[in-house]
Amino acid sequence: MTEAANDKLIVALDFARYDDARHLVDDLSDSVSFYKVGLELLFHDGLALASEIKNDGKRVFLDMKFLDIGNTVEKAVASVAELGFDFLTIHGTDTKTMIAAVKGRGNAPLKLLAVTVLTSLDQADLADQGIVMTPQELVLKRARLAREAGIDGVIASGQEAAAIRAATGNNFLIVTPGIRLPGGDAGDQTRITTPEDALRAGANHLVVGRPITAASDPRRAAQTVLEHIARA
Ligand code: C5P
Repeated sequence: MTEAANDKLIVALDFARYDDARHLVDDLSDSVSFYKVGLELLFHDGLALASEIKNDGKRVFLDMKFLDIGNTVEKAVASVAELGFDFLTIHGTDTKTMIAAVKGRGNAPLKLLAVTVLTSLDQADLADQGIVMTPQELVLKRARLAREAGIDGVIASGQEAAAIRAATGNNFLIVTPGIRLPGGDAGDQTRITTPEDALRAGANHLVVGRPITAASDPRRAAQTVLEHIARA
């Protein structure tokens, strides 16, 4: 598989136990070079595994989705920035949180990604929160605010990637979860896209969890996703 395809795939290590996550990383070995450690694994040696992955020369995305008062976010991001990982998420719901995160990151190489609207939410979920915008309008508004705040990129669905790319230009990362192969089980995701559609719409990286982690043969599933990426 080409290095370019490999660089675009981020496998989400959504396991509650270190051993299960470690087993998957070993199984995928040289085919995957970028992993996401999120809230599910964090409390069971997730950070230890993240460090092991980094020490193996691979990249790590810490999906912590910080959202708090500015002082707390700034200090939490500063603390993460010392660890030497590659990507970190914060919520992109307000400018204060994002400015605090940028300040906390300082000159560290850590890239900050703002979660625009979770890919599990649709129009009705936004209406429940009293939001009258469509998911796409809200994603775009938050992407613009993130860029103005100095954030490096956003997490958004592939369905919104083209509009974000048009609004924010080429020097802004778009990372898309909610990726499914044609006919794949959506699970709790609503705004899903195929790898080809997300990449053609301008996504830089794809986050793939269950299509690989829940497959009977994860290594083969990762190869299939990489083939779809290479085709795009
Ligand atoms: O299993 P699946 O491929 O749906 O996993 C998607 C991953 O991306 C999960 O780890 C989820 O937490 C994360 N994510 C998401 N939507 C966002 C931000 C992160 O699905 N907006």
